[in-house]
Amino acid sequence: MDTPARKRILTGDRPTGRLHLGHYVGSLANRVRLQDEYETILIIADLHTLTTKNEKADIEQIADNARGMVLDYLGAGIDPAKTTIYLQSAIAEVYELNTLFENLVTVNRLSRLPSLKDMARAANISDDSFPFGLLGYPVLQAADILLPRAHLVPVGKDNEAHVEITREIARRFNGQYGEVFPIPEAMIGDTPTLVGTDGKAKMSKSLGNAILLSDDAATVTRKVRGMYTDPNRIHADIPGTVEGNPVFTYHDIFNPNREEVEDLKVRYRAGKVGDVEVKEKLAAALNAFLDPIRERMERCSADTGRVDEIIHEGTLRMQQIARETLREVRKAMGLDRTLTRIRRAVERRRKAQEAPRPA
Ligand code: TRP
Repeated sequence: MDTPARKRILTGDRPTGRLHLGHYVGSLANRVRLQDEYETILIIADLHTLTTKNEKADIEQIADNARGMVLDYLGAGIDPAKTTIYLQSAIAEVYELNTLFENLVTVNRLSRLPSLKDMARAANISDDSFPFGLLGYPVLQAADILLPRAHLVPVGKDNEAHVEITREIARRFNGQYGEVFPIPEAMIGDTPTLVGTDGKAKMSKSLGNAILLSDDAATVTRKVRGMYTDPNRIHADIPGTVEGNPVFTYHDIFNPNREEVEDLKVRYRAGKVGDVEVKEKLAAALNAFLDPIRERMERCSADTGRVDEIIHEGTLRMQQIARETLREVRKAMGLDRTLTRIRRAVERRRKAQEAPRPA
């Protein structure tokens, strides 16, 4: 049995598009920070993408989406020399573990999850067309997390409930068949859900309110100029509200110049600063934050084929890890013994047939 020297992280994303600031503060920052302390494995969860999008044309998009996402990881500071990045659909054992785990959770438990209803709504899926696979989304995620026997799962707030399901499945498995899995913990970022540029609760690419890690400086500036602020402030001399104002939320998170931020807040509350200045300073802060990320991305994409190499190597490594875990799982459950019993009986029968008949 492989016993990793360091504790393991398993986390990742569906390859649906480029990553944004919400991903960064929700979990990517944690992944980058922890990759020295933990053996980190990142999943490109393309099977999860299929739960809401599974047309042939969607599937053809996956490779390019995966490449973009990995570039975002590398830009954010994920080091491929330390971190394994792999393609979920290429791991046969995850389908297998998913099937076994499906019996360790109730339909009731899964159908009450708000996260699944949110995903269905976002994908325009009605109650009548809700796929069985989408109900099983958290079970497949449990299979992802437990396949490398991970201890820690840095994810966004929207995935917290799925890690809880994973813990329940791991406990149930261990209790019923023997200790195979650690009980993993979720780790949620400093900003569990980042507000969108439109002031809506959550930054999301599908809502069109996201600033991407790969946006160029001009795009970031344009998006910041169009940001939602205090709607009551029709003139710069009207006192404004800082609390819950997304422009100041971003200043608090991304502008390291505390003095500047405090000064802007004081003047904003007093009606002594225009939105233009507040936004210009925010755009500058965001671009300063994104510059090194964009530079790393450019360096990585200049080396064509490097990203593909990383995904390919990572997938081969994960195939080995997965094989070992499934061996343990089958042994613990006694699944392997069923065929052994039958094979032994076949051998006995053959021997008996070969033996000369008693006179
Ligand atoms: N559910 C994650 C998302 O929202 C993707 C994912 C699939 C994942 N399997 C995982 C995250 C395992 C962490 C661990 O995109």
